Amino acid sequence: MKTKKILPFMILASLLGSGVNAGDCCDGCSVPSRSFGELADGRTAMIYTLTNKSGMKAEITNYGGVVVNLMVPDRDGKLADVALGFDKVSDYEKKVYYFGSLIGRYGNRIANGTFELDGVTYKLPLNNEPGGIPCSLHGGFKGFHTVLWDAEPLVAEDGTQGLKLSYVSKDGEEGYPGNLTVTVHYWLDAANALRISYEASTDKATPVNLTNHSYFNLAGEGSPTINDHELMLKASAFTPVNAGLIPTGEIAPVEGTPFDFRTPHPIGERVDADHPQIALGGGYDHNWVLDNQDGSMALAARVKHAATGRVMEVWTMEPGIQFYGGNFLDASDLSSAKSGKPYPKRSGFCLETQHYPDSPNQPAFPSTILRPGEAYKTTTEYRFSAE
Ligand code: GLA
Repeated sequence: MKTKKILPFMILASLLGSGVNAGDCCDGCSVPSRSFGELADGRTAMIYTLTNKSGMKAEITNYGGVVVNLMVPDRDGKLADVALGFDKVSDYEKKVYYFGSLIGRYGNRIANGTFELDGVTYKLPLNNEPGGIPCSLHGGFKGFHTVLWDAEPLVAEDGTQGLKLSYVSKDGEEGYPGNLTVTVHYWLDAANALRISYEASTDKATPVNLTNHSYFNLAGEGSPTINDHELMLKASAFTPVNAGLIPTGEIAPVEGTPFDFRTPHPIGERVDADHPQIALGGGYDHNWVLDNQDGSMALAARVKHAATGRVMEVWTMEPGIQFYGGNFLDASDLSSAKSGKPYPKRSGFCLETQHYPDSPNQPAFPSTILRPGEAYKTTTEYRFSAE
């Protein structure tokens, strides 16, 4: 997308000019920003407000690249914030649910926090232990969700507003090899799509698996359940897990299981079904093998909330998607989130586009290894509409 840099004089010009507010979206307008508060180490996180011509709004902080607020119209045009999260950056530092965060260097789990690459064994921090079995989750304790990214607001020639986030993850950071240069672009387009494009390059072979960990509730965050949302997943197979939520290596057909979302089903319909994989996941917390495996942009998921008419489609170039039904959300720890309402278990869902968990240890899975000279490039879109 063609972009132009926003220079201070343009911001001033847009504010002084013909009655245009900084928050309005038009060619030449700026992306407003404000402080999102201080981090524990004293640095200031900023928050950037992207708006589009249809009135949708995405507020993104450079702390963890978190999508903090996402205002989406219902069938009557009424906006609600469909993204779970906090209103203080300090809460994001203290409470690690990965609300809205960018995830890296490796999304989801790596078994025992170890993998071998080109004859070298690498050890990663063990920051998670489902079923008492330790693993490395979402890039470790200091994964990309904890990074204060360099941020540059952008306005495309057609007025589309965006945010460019950059970070260099050093060789050895959280145990991973190679200096990894990462750029993420968020764009909020006129058709109500939030597009996230990820790019990376490295100077040593390394696993890379980047995603965004937004939790959604299409009734509005703070609504008590997502069990009434209808979900469709364009996936004929999934990767069953062991007690540590690590894929067994099997690619299992969804046919005849509660994992078959090829036609829409309410999330709550089979979430407590008597199925060994549901028992292991504590509900849905699995990687689906998307039907599209050729790296092109394709529909992966569609979620509908009938009462408000809000629909969210997920389009991606990735081969997998983690549908996580918010089983670890805990109202006692999340008694007062953004709206002042608690976030109980299963009050938000994630659709994390990704390569499969534990791929560095699973030679039969599509490779996640990026080598020097190669370009990591992948895009995911969350497209909103109402019916
Ligand atoms: C992912 C995992 C879940 C859980 C969440 C974060 O979606 O698959 O098991 O760890 O992240 O709470």
